[in-house]
Amino acid sequence: MAFASLATNTTEAFVTLATNDDYSLGALVLGYSLREATTSKKLHCMITEQVTTPVREQLQRVYDDVSIVDVLASNDEANLALIGRPDLALAFTKLNCWRLTQYSKAVFLDADTLVLRNVDELFEREEFSAAPDIGWPDFFNSGVFVYRPNEETYRALLHKATTEGSFDGADQGLLNSFFSGWREASSAFRLSFIYNVTGGIFYTYAAAYKKLRDQVKIVHFIGTQKPWRGGVGIQMPEFAQIWHRIYERHVAGTVPGSSGTETIAESRSRWEQGRPDFTGKDAFAEIQEALMKNLQ
Ligand code: GLC
Ligand code: MN
Repeated sequence: MAFASLATNTTEAFVTLATNDDYSLGALVLGYSLREATTSKKLHCMITEQVTTPVREQLQRVYDDVSIVDVLASNDEANLALIGRPDLALAFTKLNCWRLTQYSKAVFLDADTLVLRNVDELFEREEFSAAPDIGWPDFFNSGVFVYRPNEETYRALLHKATTEGSFDGADQGLLNSFFSGWREASSAFRLSFIYNVTGGIFYTYAAAYKKLRDQVKIVHFIGTQKPWRGGVGIQMPEFAQIWHRIYERHVAGTVPGSSGTETIAESRSRWEQGRPDFTGKDAFAEIQEALMKNLQ
């Protein structure tokens, strides 16, 4: 089922990025979640050459615009190791979002986010607005932010990236250094946590989650365990279920290999029956590595 664009405002857009077919599954579900929430803004997906043609075609069904951007690699293995995410070497590619100057204002959403209800009010905010990161709340999380596309900002970011690098080897470190006034800025620039709810592996405030979960507007599946990869390590299983339902409604069977995505329930029951997939989805080695790191 395809969705007609409801965009009445063509100068403001939600923007995301998919650097390969895997993340495109996230981008597809994110796009449909925005449509189901009846956004009046445009939807724009940036992709790299990595994304294959059938997947691009599906992205074009839900996004008003799909544009190809250059890969920007950080080449910073040492700092990426600090956050345990060697897979984020291409995360600077996100900076291309400042080049979408056809929009006067935009909201960037990671492809691993999911919109649960209309969030068009985010466009009332100014650059640079974001929500705190749960790992270190004096820094913002770069999975959801309000910004103004501008070539000059893009060049300044790129200059900073090439001359100073990023303290986490990826976009979040760079953006926090660039917009370093965020923590001290007025509260208008600090988005509520309901716009970027992340779950932690080692610490989650379960009581707050219980009290406020009905108000959550955007969920962000951080870490290596993404909903489209199934797995038992997934945080916030009830939100992952919502992700899977949107996936089943609009995406399953539309792109090669997309029908086989295991649901959380299936994955959990397989785990309970003692058949975890140690080599693949359950990424036991990853969980063990994270535990060992924490113990050290
Ligand atoms: C965090 C952010 C993500 C970013 C990464 C690296 O995980 O959620 O958007 O890519 O940090 O900076
Ligand atoms: Mn993310």
